[in-house]
Amino acid sequence: MGERAKTVSAEEMGRQREFMELVRAENELLRKENGRQPSALVETYGCQQNEADSEQIRGMLRQMGYRFTDSQREADLIVMNTCAVRAHAEQRVLGNVGALTHAKRSNPDQIICLCGCMMQEGHMAEKMKRSFRHVDLVFGPHALWRFPELLQRRRAAGGRIFDVEDGPGRVAEGLPVYRQGKPKAFVSIMQGCNNFCSYCIVPYVRGRERSRMPEPILREVEMLVSEGYKEITLLGQNVNSYGKDIGAGVDFAGLLRRLNELPGEFLIRFMTSHPKDASLRLFQAMGDCAKVAPHLHLPFQAGNDRVLKAMNRGYTKADYLDLVREAREAVPGLVLTSDVIVGFPGETSREFEDTLDVLREVRFDALFTFLYSPREGTPAAKLPDPLSRAEKQENFDRLLNLQNEISARRHHAYVGRTLRVLVDGESGNEPYNLSARTAGGRLVHLSGDSRRIGSFVLAEITDASTWALFGAMKESLHENGVL
Ligand code: SAH
Ligand code: SF4
Ligand code: F3S
Repeated sequence: MGERAKTVSAEEMGRQREFMELVRAENELLRKENGRQPSALVETYGCQQNEADSEQIRGMLRQMGYRFTDSQREADLIVMNTCAVRAHAEQRVLGNVGALTHAKRSNPDQIICLCGCMMQEGHMAEKMKRSFRHVDLVFGPHALWRFPELLQRRRAAGGRIFDVEDGPGRVAEGLPVYRQGKPKAFVSIMQGCNNFCSYCIVPYVRGRERSRMPEPILREVEMLVSEGYKEITLLGQNVNSYGKDIGAGVDFAGLLRRLNELPGEFLIRFMTSHPKDASLRLFQAMGDCAKVAPHLHLPFQAGNDRVLKAMNRGYTKADYLDLVREAREAVPGLVLTSDVIVGFPGETSREFEDTLDVLREVRFDALFTFLYSPREGTPAAKLPDPLSRAEKQENFDRLLNLQNEISARRHHAYVGRTLRVLVDGESGNEPYNLSARTAGGRLVHLSGDSRRIGSFVLAEITDASTWALFGAMKESLHENGVL
């Protein structure tokens, strides 16, 4: 597919702006009539990519003249942005959508909208249609950029709207974004996934990999930095394959280098890297670029080669360990984190020992651990799964205990060091009144001057736990600060 076919055209985006204007005018009228500006509540489930989508939804809503509320009862519009990655995420959504019947009974004009990955699954959209009749508007990630049109139509004509058509997906530039997370911002650099790991629903609901062009990404980051954002997280399901589909002569390592050249004091993070596409070029770019955080989230999922093959991951345990070695050589002080799935169908307790081996060899700084959850429509969901839930849980607990021990040791090694950290907010737990992050992404409970929120400061680390570091602010840093 050519670049043009994958990008939403300027005319189509222009039409959406017209729909936004229509809704805005109606909301303005309502405000004059009732003395009350219509309000919206956006709830997000799932990963950072979904958070970033919600920021675009809020951006569109704000442009359409909505204000925001935390109250389900008060809201004129509720948007639930859903996640399908594990059964637990879906159950939370279903429980919370079910509970919305109460809010709607007391406010029958309320519009309830469900969007996100779960709605792109055929059986879920069906379920909404049949069993959740209080839901008014349903759309999947592919239709996100058409939200103004869908909302305007629903408001004008009533009834129920479902827009969950499947497809490879497109790239929409220029949607408004409303961010609330200062000094941190997400910037999505690509959508979709081509990897089809056998357990994973994401490629089915998010479509094929499609990268944004480098120029709009550079402009967006430049703007964010000029607005005072200090930490930019580049998002994609597999950022290492950034650029492969657009023929713009830039890969992910190249994009990092270009972002690093932008003026200002800020830090660049990224999520997530797939080991099969992580390369020395990337590690060298990380090592060379002072503004790129020395943090690599490199999910390995499982340590056993047979299991990795059944997962369709495209690398072996030895490949993974080599990669880690290369990364550590190229990036001094690299912080490494990872994702692991316990209990993939057919994984024996003996095979699971290889996962523990990887933990012992790599000694990750932190780990995100998940019990395998069968996803309808994925190949793994059809595999025999003989291991009992109790055995899986036992393996899971062993994994956690081992990792907790490793994390605690790693964290204690920070004690006595003085590091540059970004103060990102208040914590409210005296004497550590602030929270901050190291360049490697470790959480620091910090005591110090709250006027430094949003700045890089020096922190002396005085204590550590399994989960976090503790310290005291030493001094604030300058634009050309050290470290
Ligand atoms: N694209 C990212 C991951 C997105 S999903 C990557 O490949 O790194 C985040 C994590 O959820 C995955 O890394 C995996 O560990 C976990 N996950 C995905 N599908 C799962 C399933 N069916 N059951 C349990 N965990 C799953
Ligand atoms: Fe899912 Fe694999 Fe794609 Fe990650 S790389 S989103 S785990 S299919
Ligand atoms: Fe969930 Fe979709 Fe993210 S399934 S993890 S919200 S890409």
